[in-house]
Amino acid sequence: MAQLWGGRFTKETDSQVYDFNASIRFDKRLFRQDIEGSTAHVIMLARQGILTTGEMQDIVAGLDGIRKDVEAGKLSIDEKYEDIHSFVEAVLTERIGDTGKKLHTGRSRNDQVALDMRLYTRLQVLLVDALLKELLKVILNTMEGNTDTFMPGFTHLQKAQPTTLAHHFGAYFEMFKRDRLRMKDIFKRMNYCPLGAGALAGTTYPLDRELTAELMGFYGPTLNSMDSVSDRDYLIEFLAALSTVMMHLSRFSEEIIIWNSNEYRFVEIDDAYSTGSSIMPQKKNPDIAELVRGKTGRVYGDLISLLTTMKGLPLAYNKDMQEDKEAAFDAFDTVKDCIALFTGMLDTMKYNRERMAASAMTGFTNATDAADYLVNKGVPFRDAHGIIGRLVLYCIDKNTSIDALSLEELRGICDKFEEDIYDAVSLKTCVEKRLTVGAPGAEAMKRVIALNREYLEQEEEDWFPDSSEYEIHCEVTETLPGWYKV
Ligand code: ARG
Repeated sequence: MAQLWGGRFTKETDSQVYDFNASIRFDKRLFRQDIEGSTAHVIMLARQGILTTGEMQDIVAGLDGIRKDVEAGKLSIDEKYEDIHSFVEAVLTERIGDTGKKLHTGRSRNDQVALDMRLYTRLQVLLVDALLKELLKVILNTMEGNTDTFMPGFTHLQKAQPTTLAHHFGAYFEMFKRDRLRMKDIFKRMNYCPLGAGALAGTTYPLDRELTAELMGFYGPTLNSMDSVSDRDYLIEFLAALSTVMMHLSRFSEEIIIWNSNEYRFVEIDDAYSTGSSIMPQKKNPDIAELVRGKTGRVYGDLISLLTTMKGLPLAYNKDMQEDKEAAFDAFDTVKDCIALFTGMLDTMKYNRERMAASAMTGFTNATDAADYLVNKGVPFRDAHGIIGRLVLYCIDKNTSIDALSLEELRGICDKFEEDIYDAVSLKTCVEKRLTVGAPGAEAMKRVIALNREYLEQEEEDWFPDSSEYEIHCEVTETLPGWYKV
């Protein structure tokens, strides 16, 4: 057992209790954030005269050595320690002696873990955003090449009106674009530094919380020390946004599974993204899409788990909060994998344009346009709706389609039909005439594609940073971090 406390105890902790209480098994992935936070903390302590410059330099160099050794595999994170914070402090003290024991001055593990988790999550928000951007690029490229790839649009999974592949994919573009906006929104709201909140009520040391916040790229310090150590809202918001990403990926996956089925064959998933059957040699299954759909439930579970953990917790820190980590990490890992794999699957998928167009020609997807045709000839819409309904029934009876009827047959049902009906209900016209903003007609679609291309290309990074800027702040040049301006 290796723990940071024990002075007021007369007995050793029961070993099962120790294991139950320990979090190092999963919080070891926070080691870089822990070192970053400690580095900023001691630099601030020295600036405030709480530590000497020499002590600060020894600690900063010691911490940097630990980071490098862990990264190089020369130092492994020993799970005998209670948590990552204990591990770093113990190794530091082992390496630099008693000065290491000054690291925790003016700090509690409560604000320390709040900081580590926030730093880690902040990076995940940026990484998810970057992955979503890649997915958007693949979707937009597909849209650009398919403004004239006709396909049926569905409601109730029944053929409804004709549309195009570009239009269908455009719906997902908008969804994932909103997901990116949610990432930015969360980033803006969460980017405040909890370090300096202490256990719950701040400290009596003259800490400069603005400085630590600035050193780690935060907009500023959080404004209430109790809230700082017990707030997990940013994680809940992020998990909710990740659940929404998964819901979008899951709906898209479901459509791809349907389109890839033997009956539809609208698309063919690349061999590299399909799997076979151990018994049925002919099988090529869409497992990636199915797994993405399946993992959606798991991410929702992570969100519900955290919401339930937080419900009813009194202020301020409670050990229940240690349960935030496994759920959050599971969601981060799962969603990043899902976006990356889905993007690869989409990028390599083949489209069967002929089958899609042929499918759009059946199922009376042009019935609305036939009714609109009669409206243009002066028939009130409600009457036109009834006439075309009878026409569809006639076609079903004859096992044919509206555009395959002769003019005589059409006139037998309504004398307003003329020769121009055939052009009016052709697949091309049905799509091309839909030109309102957001509709599938090629001209309307091209304007939307251009707007979205501009959105993808514009440099938004002036306020929303590249994730690499947030990866390590504790890089040391000689004894001081490069970003530390004295
Ligand atoms: N492992 C703990 C967590 O993740 C760190 C904070 C411990 N604080 C305490 N007062 N026991 O929440």
